[in-house]
Amino acid sequence: MTTTPFQSTPHPSPATPERVAEVLADPGFGRYFTDHMVTIRHTTDKGWHDARVQPYQPLPLDPATMVLHYGQAIFEGLKAYHQPDGSVKTFRPRANAERFRASARRMAMAELPDELFVDSLHELLAVDRRWVPTRPEESLYLRPFMISTEVGLGVRPAAEYLYLLIASPAGAYFASGVKPVTVWLSTEYIRAAPGGTGAAKFAGNYAASLLAQAQAAEQGCEQVVWLDAAERRWVEEMGGMNLFFVMGDKVVTPALSGALLPGITRDSLLTLAADHGFEVEERPVSTEEWEKKAETGELSEVFACGTAAVITPVGHVKHAGGEFSVSGGATGPVTSALREALTALQYGHAEDTRGWMTTL
Ligand code: PLP
Ligand code: COI
Repeated sequence: MTTTPFQSTPHPSPATPERVAEVLADPGFGRYFTDHMVTIRHTTDKGWHDARVQPYQPLPLDPATMVLHYGQAIFEGLKAYHQPDGSVKTFRPRANAERFRASARRMAMAELPDELFVDSLHELLAVDRRWVPTRPEESLYLRPFMISTEVGLGVRPAAEYLYLLIASPAGAYFASGVKPVTVWLSTEYIRAAPGGTGAAKFAGNYAASLLAQAQAAEQGCEQVVWLDAAERRWVEEMGGMNLFFVMGDKVVTPALSGALLPGITRDSLLTLAADHGFEVEERPVSTEEWEKKAETGELSEVFACGTAAVITPVGHVKHAGGEFSVSGGATGPVTSALREALTALQYGHAEDTRGWMTTL
């Protein structure tokens, strides 16, 4: 239930039912947007105010708006899932709200209260529920974000911010579906360094990743694996996903070093893997350990996880010095079991014993 007053302006000409059906027939990822968006403003003197649900529309921005020059921009990503009883639920939204505040702190931006973040999701779903896909594996991707909107060229934290929430029906993130991907170990470029912005969901992190992503694509890889800045040896994460390694009865993920994003899927899978009887370990994992144990078979599976990509197996690894396979390039049983456990919870086919699901 919403506790904040939002001013609501319905779209004067929302998409026709035929258009919604056409989009939902093949949504892709991030290509189409619902009829409405939420906006909330922040100024140093007024605090958070002017909460609105309004027609999805372009933003008028003065060319000297600070975000265009100095890049104070953060975002979140979560999904709304159609449930068997016809309701719509989302997964651990308060964790996203908390991470959004942490990202804001790191970028010296105003912190949106968790209550307002969660309320904004309810408000958007109240008007755009018909855009939630109902087929298996599909969802409505929710994209909360915030930019600095003060006008001026002085380099300092802005005094004005705009929070927005938009939504986009989502099919599979990878065109290949749940097939193992090939990844590129990036030793030329890095994503983040200790003391930097790697743990924030900060737009600049993604801008800084694109050149290496293009390099990965040239090598025939779908994704980049980022390594630590100092030694280029320790595995951190992928472009939009965290990584897990299955070694015997252990499920291992790189420890949060401050340079990688603390994924909510990552955190949830540490719990679900323990439920499945695995010993879970958060510790540094080197590229040598990955390659060596993949060869000996001590490492049987590797998978990536995140909201958009869910759980995606990693089948092949390429680097400047060669390449190797994991699991013979196939999807392993632990990857499949954890994927099933997570999606059963999200789509309402398994009991939510931890209160992770929130009705929208
Ligand atoms: N790492 C990065 C860089 C990401 O952008 C994401 C996606 O949000 C993740 C990891 C996975 O995080 P989550 O599971 O919270 O979606
Ligand atoms: C997500 O999983 O929500 C992400 O933000 C990853 C990517 C689309 C940037």
